[in-house]
Amino acid sequence: MIFKQINSGGDRNYAYLIGCENTKLAAVADPSPDPTLLMKEIEKYELDVIYIFNTHSHPDHTGGNDYLKKSTGAKIVTFKGGGGDLEVSDGAVLNAGKVSFEFIHTPGHTQDSVCIKTGDNLITGDTLFVGKVGGTYTEEEAKVEFHSLKKLISFPENLKVWPGHNYGTAPSSTILNEKQTNPFIQRLNDFNEFLWLKQNWAAYKVEHGIK
Ligand SMILES: [Fe+2]
Repeated sequence: MIFKQINSGGDRNYAYLIGCENTKLAAVADPSPDPTLLMKEIEKYELDVIYIFNTHSHPDHTGGNDYLKKSTGAKIVTFKGGGGDLEVSDGAVLNAGKVSFEFIHTPGHTQDSVCIKTGDNLITGDTLFVGKVGGTYTEEEAKVEFHSLKKLISFPENLKVWPGHNYGTAPSSTILNEKQTNPFIQRLNDFNEFLWLKQNWAAYKVEHGIK
């Protein structure tokens, strides 16, 4: 299995390239903002990209879709209602050669947010970052995200966490590490505490020396 995290420009965005070494079939996740950086990796590994996944509908994750679709002929895959060539539901599985991808609906940051599990990797988009979680605007959205995060942390602790932005102290993490260090994840037993941290995050960061 080929698994590459790519610095994709913009606001420290990450794109992902995941391929099957045997068949050379591959998928990408969030080919944005600069899809040419991803294209170089696709060419380097001589991969045939058949799917373009979007973790959610924000333009800094979807903006490179058309460029990459024209370059590769791949199908755009979104959560249902997202307008992709292929729309998936919670629990859907797609394959590229021997590599499989499971979609987990994790609404909150956006209603169409998904995480993608492939091998021992979890691509978390803007739902879970290293040491942080996705932004929400309302208490209702925060509550929805709270339940999505509870679902994620029930996954095996050795699962690697690959976020949509490089906002943390490292480019990737694990479920275990997030349980041990992410202050939002540590507040998943109590929604009021989770919400308090969201509402006081700026001050909390200063107090705890978090950048
Ligand atoms: Fe986003």
